[in-house]
Amino acid sequence: MLKQPIKIESNLIIRNAVETDCDDIMRLINELAVFEKAPDQVRINSQTLKQDGFGEHPLYTCLVAEDTSSSPARVVAIALMFNVYSTWEGKCLHLEDLYVQVDYRKRGIGKALFAATYQIAVETNCARLNFSVLDWNSNALDFYKSFGAVDITEKEGWHSVRVTRKNMELQLEKWKK
Ligand SMILES: CC(C)(COP(=O)(O)OP(=O)(O)OC[C@H]1O[C@@H](n2cnc3c(N)ncnc32)[C@H](O)[C@@H]1OP(=O)(O)O)[C@@H](O)C(=O)NCCC(=O)NCCS
Repeated sequence: MLKQPIKIESNLIIRNAVETDCDDIMRLINELAVFEKAPDQVRINSQTLKQDGFGEHPLYTCLVAEDTSSSPARVVAIALMFNVYSTWEGKCLHLEDLYVQVDYRKRGIGKALFAATYQIAVETNCARLNFSVLDWNSNALDFYKSFGAVDITEKEGWHSVRVTRKNMELQLEKWKK
Protein backbone atom coordinates (compact mmCIF):
# COMPACT_ATOMS: atom_id res chain seq x y z
CA MET A 1 0.00 0.00 0.00
CA LEU A 2 1.18 3.52 -0.73
CA LYS A 3 1.46 5.83 2.28
CA GLN A 4 0.22 8.71 0.14
CA PRO A 5 -0.76 9.34 -3.49
CA ILE A 6 2.01 10.05 -6.02
CA LYS A 7 1.60 12.93 -8.45
CA ILE A 8 2.75 12.20 -12.03
CA GLU A 9 1.36 15.32 -13.71
CA SER A 10 -0.92 18.04 -12.35
CA ASN A 11 -4.02 15.97 -13.19
CA LEU A 12 -2.55 12.51 -13.03
CA ILE A 13 -2.01 10.64 -9.77
CA ILE A 14 -1.25 7.16 -8.50
CA ARG A 15 -3.15 6.04 -5.42
CA ASN A 16 -4.22 2.89 -3.61
CA ALA A 17 -7.33 1.35 -5.16
CA VAL A 18 -10.56 1.43 -3.16
CA GLU A 19 -13.53 -0.93 -3.39
CA THR A 20 -15.46 1.37 -5.70
CA ASP A 21 -12.63 1.14 -8.28
CA CYS A 22 -13.36 -2.54 -8.93
CA ASP A 23 -15.49 -1.96 -12.06
CA ASP A 24 -12.66 0.10 -13.57
CA ILE A 25 -10.00 -2.40 -12.47
CA MET A 26 -12.07 -5.16 -14.09
CA ARG A 27 -12.35 -3.14 -17.32
CA LEU A 28 -8.56 -2.75 -17.45
CA ILE A 29 -7.98 -6.45 -16.60
CA ASN A 30 -10.22 -7.32 -19.56
CA GLU A 31 -8.35 -4.88 -21.83
CA LEU A 32 -5.04 -6.46 -20.83
CA ALA A 33 -6.45 -9.94 -21.52
CA VAL A 34 -7.46 -8.79 -25.03
CA PHE A 35 -3.95 -7.37 -25.52
CA GLU A 36 -2.55 -10.73 -24.37
CA LYS A 37 -4.83 -12.55 -26.88
CA ALA A 38 -6.67 -14.43 -24.14
CA PRO A 39 -9.93 -12.56 -23.46
CA ASP A 40 -11.82 -15.83 -22.91
CA GLN A 41 -9.59 -16.78 -20.01
CA VAL A 42 -10.92 -14.06 -17.70
CA ARG A 43 -13.40 -15.83 -15.43
CA ILE A 44 -13.81 -13.34 -12.57
CA ASN A 45 -15.93 -10.21 -12.32
CA SER A 46 -15.78 -6.99 -10.33
CA GLN A 47 -17.75 -8.60 -7.49
CA THR A 48 -15.00 -11.22 -7.12
CA LEU A 49 -12.42 -8.44 -7.10
CA LYS A 50 -14.35 -6.66 -4.34
CA GLN A 51 -14.62 -9.77 -2.18
CA ASP A 52 -11.01 -10.84 -2.69
CA GLY A 53 -9.30 -7.50 -2.38
CA PHE A 54 -11.34 -5.56 0.14
CA GLY A 55 -12.52 -8.06 2.75
CA GLU A 56 -11.01 -8.95 6.10
CA HIS A 57 -8.04 -10.77 4.53
CA PRO A 58 -7.27 -9.05 1.21
CA LEU A 59 -5.65 -11.37 -1.32
CA TYR A 60 -4.11 -8.57 -3.37
CA THR A 61 -3.16 -4.90 -3.39
CA CYS A 62 -3.92 -2.69 -6.35
CA LEU A 63 -2.59 0.72 -7.34
CA VAL A 64 -4.50 2.82 -9.84
CA ALA A 65 -3.49 5.80 -11.96
CA GLU A 66 -6.29 8.33 -12.09
CA ASP A 67 -6.90 11.22 -14.46
CA THR A 68 -8.50 13.83 -12.22
CA SER A 69 -9.08 16.28 -15.08
CA SER A 70 -12.08 14.34 -16.39
CA SER A 71 -15.36 14.41 -14.56
CA PRO A 72 -15.82 11.97 -12.92
CA ALA A 73 -12.12 11.17 -12.44
CA ARG A 74 -11.03 8.31 -14.68
CA VAL A 75 -8.98 5.24 -13.71
CA VAL A 76 -6.57 4.74 -16.63
CA ALA A 77 -3.98 2.23 -15.41
CA ILE A 78 -3.44 -0.45 -12.79
CA ALA A 79 -0.71 -2.38 -11.02
CA LEU A 80 -2.11 -5.38 -9.13
CA MET A 81 0.17 -7.36 -6.81
CA PHE A 82 0.27 -9.82 -3.90
CA ASN A 83 2.79 -11.47 -1.64
CA VAL A 84 4.31 -14.88 -2.35
CA TYR A 85 6.84 -16.85 -0.34
CA SER A 86 10.20 -18.13 -1.49
CA THR A 87 11.80 -20.98 0.46
CA TRP A 88 15.13 -19.53 -0.68
CA GLU A 89 14.57 -15.87 0.12
CA GLY A 90 11.41 -15.44 2.20
CA LYS A 91 8.73 -12.83 1.51
CA CYS A 92 8.47 -11.70 -2.13
CA LEU A 93 6.04 -9.61 -4.18
CA HIS A 94 4.33 -10.87 -7.32
CA LEU A 95 3.14 -8.29 -9.87
CA GLU A 96 0.17 -9.89 -11.62
CA ASP A 97 -0.94 -7.07 -13.92
CA LEU A 98 0.62 -3.82 -15.08
CA TYR A 99 -1.54 -2.11 -17.65
CA VAL A 100 -1.88 1.42 -19.00
CA GLN A 101 -4.82 2.07 -21.30
CA VAL A 102 -3.75 2.83 -24.87
CA ASP A 103 -4.51 6.56 -24.97
CA TYR A 104 -2.49 7.20 -21.80
CA ARG A 105 0.73 5.41 -22.74
CA LYS A 106 4.14 7.05 -23.10
CA ARG A 107 3.38 9.65 -20.43
CA GLY A 108 5.35 8.03 -17.63
CA ILE A 109 2.40 6.23 -16.01
CA GLY A 110 3.78 2.69 -16.49
CA LYS A 111 7.15 3.75 -15.12
CA ALA A 112 5.55 5.51 -12.13
CA LEU A 113 3.39 2.45 -11.32
CA PHE A 114 6.40 0.16 -11.65
CA ALA A 115 8.47 2.47 -9.43
CA ALA A 116 5.66 2.52 -6.84
CA THR A 117 5.64 -1.31 -6.95
CA TYR A 118 9.41 -1.32 -6.24
CA GLN A 119 8.79 1.10 -3.37
CA ILE A 120 6.14 -1.18 -1.84
CA ALA A 121 8.36 -4.26 -2.27
CA VAL A 122 11.33 -2.60 -0.59
CA GLU A 123 9.31 -0.96 2.20
CA THR A 124 7.58 -4.25 3.05
CA ASN A 125 10.90 -6.08 3.13
CA CYS A 126 10.37 -8.26 0.05
CA ALA A 127 13.43 -10.11 -1.25
CA ARG A 128 12.36 -9.83 -4.88
CA LEU A 129 9.61 -8.94 -7.33
CA ASN A 130 8.30 -11.69 -9.65
CA PHE A 131 6.19 -11.36 -12.77
CA SER A 132 5.57 -13.09 -16.11
CA VAL A 133 5.78 -11.62 -19.60
CA LEU A 134 4.55 -13.32 -22.79
CA ASP A 135 7.41 -14.24 -25.14
CA TRP A 136 6.15 -12.01 -27.96
CA ASN A 137 5.72 -8.96 -25.70
CA SER A 138 9.26 -7.72 -26.24
CA ASN A 139 8.16 -4.12 -25.66
CA ALA A 140 7.14 -4.90 -22.10
CA LEU A 141 10.21 -7.07 -21.57
CA ASP A 142 12.46 -4.23 -22.74
CA PHE A 143 10.55 -1.83 -20.51
CA TYR A 144 11.12 -4.09 -17.46
CA LYS A 145 14.75 -4.83 -18.32
CA SER A 146 15.47 -1.11 -18.55
CA PHE A 147 14.54 -0.96 -14.85
CA GLY A 148 16.81 -3.82 -13.76
CA ALA A 149 14.56 -6.87 -14.32
CA VAL A 150 16.20 -10.12 -15.51
CA ASP A 151 14.52 -12.73 -17.76
CA ILE A 152 15.02 -15.89 -15.66
CA THR A 153 13.72 -18.18 -18.43
CA GLU A 154 16.55 -16.88 -20.60
CA LYS A 155 19.13 -16.88 -17.81
CA GLU A 156 18.19 -19.89 -15.68
CA GLY A 157 15.76 -21.95 -17.80
CA TRP A 158 12.71 -21.71 -15.52
CA HIS A 159 9.35 -22.59 -17.10
CA SER A 160 6.00 -21.40 -15.74
CA VAL A 161 3.87 -24.46 -15.02
CA ARG A 162 0.22 -24.64 -13.99
CA VAL A 163 -2.58 -27.18 -13.50
CA THR A 164 -6.18 -26.12 -14.02
CA ARG A 165 -8.77 -26.96 -11.38
CA LYS A 166 -10.48 -29.25 -13.89
CA ASN A 167 -7.28 -31.24 -14.44
CA MET A 168 -6.66 -31.45 -10.69
CA GLU A 169 -10.19 -32.82 -10.20
CA LEU A 170 -9.68 -35.35 -13.01
CA GLN A 171 -6.35 -36.39 -11.57
CA LEU A 172 -7.81 -36.70 -8.05
CA GLU A 173 -10.48 -39.03 -9.48
CA LYS A 174 -7.77 -41.12 -11.17
CA TRP A 175 -5.81 -41.38 -7.93
CA LYS A 176 -8.92 -42.59 -6.12
CA LYS A 177 -9.26 -45.61 -8.45
C1 LIG B 1 4.34 -1.55 -20.91
C2 LIG B 1 3.48 -0.38 -20.40
C3 LIG B 1 2.98 -0.72 -19.01
C4 LIG B 1 4.36 0.88 -20.34
O1 LIG B 1 3.57 1.93 -19.82
P1 LIG B 1 3.74 3.43 -20.35
O2 LIG B 1 2.96 4.29 -19.44
O3 LIG B 1 3.43 3.50 -21.79
O4 LIG B 1 5.32 3.65 -20.17
P2 LIG B 1 6.02 4.98 -19.70
O5 LIG B 1 5.46 6.13 -20.43
O6 LIG B 1 6.03 5.05 -18.22
O7 LIG B 1 7.50 4.73 -20.18
C5 LIG B 1 8.57 4.63 -19.26
C6 LIG B 1 9.83 4.37 -20.00
O8 LIG B 1 9.77 3.13 -20.67
C7 LIG B 1 9.92 3.33 -22.05
N1 LIG B 1 8.90 2.52 -22.71
C8 LIG B 1 7.58 2.67 -22.61
N2 LIG B 1 6.93 1.78 -23.38
C9 LIG B 1 7.91 1.07 -23.96
C10 LIG B 1 7.88 0.04 -24.86
N3 LIG B 1 6.72 -0.42 -25.35
N4 LIG B 1 9.06 -0.48 -25.25
C11 LIG B 1 10.23 0.00 -24.79
N5 LIG B 1 10.31 1.00 -23.92
C12 LIG B 1 9.16 1.53 -23.52
C13 LIG B 1 9.66 4.77 -22.33
O9 LIG B 1 10.42 5.21 -23.44
C14 LIG B 1 10.10 5.41 -21.05
O10 LIG B 1 11.49 5.62 -21.07
P3 LIG B 1 12.07 7.04 -20.56
O11 LIG B 1 11.69 7.14 -19.11
O12 LIG B 1 13.51 6.89 -20.80
O13 LIG B 1 11.39 8.04 -21.41
C15 LIG B 1 2.30 -0.07 -21.36
O14 LIG B 1 2.83 0.15 -22.65
C16 LIG B 1 1.25 -1.15 -21.43
O15 LIG B 1 0.32 -1.17 -20.62
N6 LIG B 1 1.37 -2.02 -22.44
C17 LIG B 1 0.38 -3.03 -22.71
C18 LIG B 1 0.23 -4.03 -21.61
C19 LIG B 1 1.51 -4.70 -21.24
O16 LIG B 1 2.34 -5.08 -22.07
N7 LIG B 1 1.67 -4.85 -19.94
C20 LIG B 1 2.74 -5.62 -19.37
C21 LIG B 1 2.29 -7.04 -19.32
S1 LIG B 1 3.58 -8.07 -18.69
